[in-house]
Amino acid sequence: YNYRVSRDRRAILEYLFTGLRRLEYRGYDSAGISFDSDPVQPLNGTSFSENGTVEHKFVVVHNGIITNYKALKDFLIKRGEVFISDTDTEVIPKLCNYVYKSTQEKLSFNELVLEVISKLEGAYGLLFKSAYFPGELVACKRGSPLLLGIKEAEALRPLQSSPMRRPNPGDSFEAFIASDASAFVEHTKQMIVLEDNDLLHLARGTYAIYNVSKDESGAAYGSVSRALSTLDMEVNSIMKGGYDHYMQKEINEQPDSVLQTMRGRVKFDREPKAMDPSWDPYHEKRITLGGLVDRISTIRSGRRVMFVACGTSYHACLACRQTMEELAELPVSLELASDLLDRRAPIFRDDMCVFVSQSGETADTLKALEYAKERGALCIGVTNTVGSAIARSTHCGVHINAGCEIGVASTKAYTSQMVALTMMALALSEDSIRLRPKRNGIIDALGVLPDQIREVLKLDAEMLSLAEQLKEEQSLLVFGRGYNYATALEAALKVKEVALMHSEGILAGEMKHGPLALVDELLPIIVIATKDRMYQKMLSVVQQLLARGARLIILCNSGDSEMEEVCATGGGRLIRVPETVECLQPIINIVPLQLLSYHLTVLRGFNVDQPRNLAKSVTVS
Ligand code: G6P
Repeated sequence: YNYRVSRDRRAILEYLFTGLRRLEYRGYDSAGISFDSDPVQPLNGTSFSENGTVEHKFVVVHNGIITNYKALKDFLIKRGEVFISDTDTEVIPKLCNYVYKSTQEKLSFNELVLEVISKLEGAYGLLFKSAYFPGELVACKRGSPLLLGIKEAEALRPLQSSPMRRPNPGDSFEAFIASDASAFVEHTKQMIVLEDNDLLHLARGTYAIYNVSKDESGAAYGSVSRALSTLDMEVNSIMKGGYDHYMQKEINEQPDSVLQTMRGRVKFDREPKAMDPSWDPYHEKRITLGGLVDRISTIRSGRRVMFVACGTSYHACLACRQTMEELAELPVSLELASDLLDRRAPIFRDDMCVFVSQSGETADTLKALEYAKERGALCIGVTNTVGSAIARSTHCGVHINAGCEIGVASTKAYTSQMVALTMMALALSEDSIRLRPKRNGIIDALGVLPDQIREVLKLDAEMLSLAEQLKEEQSLLVFGRGYNYATALEAALKVKEVALMHSEGILAGEMKHGPLALVDELLPIIVIATKDRMYQKMLSVVQQLLARGARLIILCNSGDSEMEEVCATGGGRLIRVPETVECLQPIINIVPLQLLSYHLTVLRGFNVDQPRNLAKSVTVS
């Protein structure tokens, strides 16, 4: 800022700062600002660290990774370019400079960028500005997301074929280019989602989008039109709204977010309306997933269902595997995306692959999706981000509609993913008369789930006091089995990633094969023992642990007198949660454990929303 900065420019600065702040949650590791002066004055930039550099007459902003940067750097150093950082990004402006000079300044800005990106390998969202091309901006993407937000779209006309056109006098528009809509949602909801290999050219009141596609004859470069879409996001949804942290807000939003996941999709009516001609006695409780309706019979006739995901999303798949097996009556396999790729595991044309990702941008999941697509499998996406890479690349899918999730540690997306996957399993079982009672029971239970989550959130103070007890610990084990093995893993992941405390989720069935050796009077252990098919086994786990003097925290259902008694005699602290059908119990069970990890983090003095070294969207693998 200086006194010569005009009011417009100050406003732009503010836009940029708020936008950057909104993107902080994604875990980017650097930021910078560059200002374009009037076209008469060449562009000036400040140089900044890591992913942005200013060099010569080119400014480049880069989100992603350039995997062949070493080779490019060597090439450029040999031709006299001098590097000032160790970043992969720096090769891009240097390459611009090199191309500009070696083509004797004859290329248009677009052509120059095309030449530059033809040399890049890896993933990128890129913006280019240059003092050689005042008033112009070129953006392009491959692998990383890039959005164009447009305010007063009627003034900013898409340009089909002719070169730049000057705007009519008085035309004004604002264009925002970002990798995430939260950076500009305050200013506009009109946006265009750029596709891979798109190149956006903005100049003096107009924009044009081209796509570079490679066919047998080589690269073709043609103008394309991309639909303008309206962003379904409220500014409030990305504010803390009275809470101290996003994670806390998102945990507390769950009664509503799971409802949003079900909205319009679950028909709860027990009785048909009188004389309703559309009533079908066999289908009185229906699940309608718009994105899957045409595919249900294809999926049912598949060889197997394969879930592919990373992190918390993987845990959601694990939690719903049994539901899918029992309702869809298909073999279900489960893959961590990176491991699937490492093994290059066999996938067949009659496989039904379900890619679950909150962000829809996780690089490993996206790569696994491309891998499965190449093998001809039907690819189904389950994401929280409309227009995300996974949502667009899959053949069909379900949006979980949990609302924007900002805390790096996923909470509300997890519960909504489980609801969405359960709904998918229900939809797949619709033809089975035998399974109807079970299905109807689950649908009834979904109806009261938001209220039960509201109930369980009242454990907040209790979880705070438990966190007080545990805050100095070095380690925490979580035991579960059956449906709640996933709960154990997810609870341990939450404690690990935000409270920075060692924690391990253990399948209780494996207890005797090693973990039992760790048990003593000091190590705190959470045991998940709610009422389901595994209850008797978990009761026995509790008894065995108590017999060894273990320090137990038992998560059980309210009114479980047996557990109350065991605890009263053997010691141990209880967390009591409402009971639901067994396949939905993990959704309720995780909530107090999310609260526990939240409080542990605050008490231990760590950053709740952005744990060190972690990112919300891992867009590089
Ligand atoms: C990162 C995040 C996790 C998330 C995982 C998968 O590790 O920190 O919270 O579970 O990525 O992300 P996705 O967007 O694919 O669900």
